[in-house]
Amino acid sequence: MPEHFDVVIIGAGGAGLFCASVAGQRGKSVLVLDHNDKPGKKILISGGGRCNFTNLGAGPEHYRSSNPHFCRSALSRFSPADFIALVDKHGIAYHEKSLGQLFCDGPAKAIVDLLLAECRDAGATVRLGTTIAGITKNADGYTLATSGGSVTCTALVLACGGLSIPTIGATDFGFRLARQFGLAIVPTAPALVPLTLPPDEVADLSGVALDAEVACNGQTFREAILFTHGGLSGPAILQISTWWNPGDAVTINLLPDYELPTVFAERRRTGAKQSLPNLLGDLLPRRLAQRWVERFQIPESVHHLTEAEIRRISATVHSWEVRPTGTEGYRKAEVTRGGISTDELSSKTMEAKKVPGLYAIGEVVDVTGWLGGYNFQWAWASGKAAGLAV
Ligand code: FDA
Repeated sequence: MPEHFDVVIIGAGGAGLFCASVAGQRGKSVLVLDHNDKPGKKILISGGGRCNFTNLGAGPEHYRSSNPHFCRSALSRFSPADFIALVDKHGIAYHEKSLGQLFCDGPAKAIVDLLLAECRDAGATVRLGTTIAGITKNADGYTLATSGGSVTCTALVLACGGLSIPTIGATDFGFRLARQFGLAIVPTAPALVPLTLPPDEVADLSGVALDAEVACNGQTFREAILFTHGGLSGPAILQISTWWNPGDAVTINLLPDYELPTVFAERRRTGAKQSLPNLLGDLLPRRLAQRWVERFQIPESVHHLTEAEIRRISATVHSWEVRPTGTEGYRKAEVTRGGISTDELSSKTMEAKKVPGLYAIGEVVDVTGWLGGYNFQWAWASGKAAGLAV
């Protein structure tokens, strides 16, 4: 006889564990399955080991999805304050870093422990090191052939996450299952990921960081950028990577707080003798300024610049256009863009419209948050929505 549960959740990550606790609290018998030997591995490495578990300002505008309205309902019914209340209940100390980002004071394991304690209190079973060979749908629900035997359930929740960081257990299983049940997948791509540039473009600037404004496909972010051996990274680049498609240019304003033509005009007016390379060196990191002077043949004196030259130099600084060759891929990406199409799911319950009893939550769904705690807030909110419905 197969074991039977009301709900089986595939994936013991943030979304799956939280969903399990919510469903368990409602009296459902719940089994969470994961092939990893530890739960919440991504939580453990998140936020530099401190887990940026939510963002105070999280709202639908902080997500990319083919349907930007889809996440609205779940996010409004489970807010950052709701998760903070849970964090407080478990006595976890935290702090706001910047831009509303809340991090644990101590190791991220506290968040995994919180989720496991909630699952335990709700009577949900978490079974690790379990592989799933196949799933079939029948009149009463689903049958799973697992390495631990056959399991049946009435509701099946896909919480298998995306493709990023395969070394800690990410697979395409959620997408394959969704396809098996006839659900459409929005093409996936690495997101919140460093961008690569042609080898000789900026390699010698590796290590230089500055505050910049970065734009692509109508989206703009103002945060730090970091030059790396392979290209560009830093929060503003990770953010824009979610909007970047192969072949697109990214426009970077390296001096967002100044207008170079105004600075030049001021220097001319006052008769200041400072050379142009030195002037740029005062405004930009020295190595970057030096490289710009060489690369764009920026002349010495501000006083002999023609209007055309001023426009040309300003453009290289305020609208530096780079054409990335690619991204550093799923190996380095914090999340996966795209996923199970939101057209297939109820935004209230996360249930597949044409497959009763099948649900999808968290990163496996085509809802991708900005950097800064938004992806966990989506994992909690979508997990709660399904947990209340299964
Ligand atoms: P998640 O990937 O967490 O869980 C999916 C689970 O399914 C995994 O446990 C996996 O083992 C399991 N699984 C996969 N295939 C399976 C199979 N075939 N059989 C059985 N089980 C299977 N976000 C944020 O808001 N704040 C932050 O600080 C960070 N920091 C961060 C750092 C790094 C390095 C990364 C890679 C990511 C982040 N993120 C983040 C993103 C965040 O971690 C991510 O969006 C959520 O963990 C997604 O939660 P899910 O539960 O949907 O998937």
